[in-house]
Amino acid sequence: MRSFYRPALERHRRLIAEVEVGSREAASLPRDLLGLLAACADPAWGEDDDLGLRETIVTLNATLDTSSVILVQALAEAFTWLEDHPHDGALLADPDFLNRLVRETLRLHPTNTAFFRRVAEDVRLESGRSLRAGEMVAIRVGIASRDESVYGADANEFNPWRTVPPRAYDYGLAFGSGAHKCLGLPLIIGAGGRDGSHVHLLSMLFAHGIQLDPDRPPRRPSDLDRDMYESFPVLLRQTSGLVDELAGHQIAGP
Ligand code: HEM
Repeated sequence: MRSFYRPALERHRRLIAEVEVGSREAASLPRDLLGLLAACADPAWGEDDDLGLRETIVTLNATLDTSSVILVQALAEAFTWLEDHPHDGALLADPDFLNRLVRETLRLHPTNTAFFRRVAEDVRLESGRSLRAGEMVAIRVGIASRDESVYGADANEFNPWRTVPPRAYDYGLAFGSGAHKCLGLPLIIGAGGRDGSHVHLLSMLFAHGIQLDPDRPPRRPSDLDRDMYESFPVLLRQTSGLVDELAGHQIAGP
């Protein structure tokens, strides 16, 4: 808060003040979340600094925490899958296979436990269950994404070759659904299904010979009830060029 958030917000306010007195071009203002908050782009935000702090935390959590957790989960699932299906090791540069790894990982390891929604009007669901206006409901992502009637009798198992019925998402409810479905989805799994950030990252890591560190097994958090790793040590058999590749990496957008 004191080291990063507050100085950044103050800097944005200073820049905006410079535009107001005519010593800076409006076009040179940074176009980012803090800029919008400092400019009070929506008058309803007022001067509430905590709002900006909360939005910053939510944004970091929604974009970076989710992505990094899923990348590690995908590696963990891939290592286990390849132990039992070594012939698929030949596909580690194949974007279609890597994309399947990522989607199946998302299905089994949703980063949200549940979506909470308030019922807008009385409704009867396809299942026959009735909900009354004003009630709060929790849509349990992990349960829905492992529904055997949709994903098959082996829904609890990891299988990148899984096929799903036409109306179902192969990545389960990992990105939500409907009006608030994740805006970052095309970044992660790609617009055409093959060019997402995680396919690129996995492809680079496998090309550089990533493997689990045999001396330091992965560790789950001991004090947090969350499906993630606290520590996931890996070795890269071939490191030359990796840093340059990551630094110059362009993520394909929608
Ligand atoms: C693996 C990575 C990600 C996962 C699993 C994920 C998951 C989700 C989920 C489940 C929601 C819907 C929440 C709800 O309906 O209540 C959501 C919303 C959203 N996500 Fe993501 N997300 C990921 C990455 C990203 C990235 C990289 C960005 C932006 C660069 C992003 C931007 C958003 C935004 C802006 C919303 C809100 C959409 C709205 O409310 O209209 N997400 N995400």
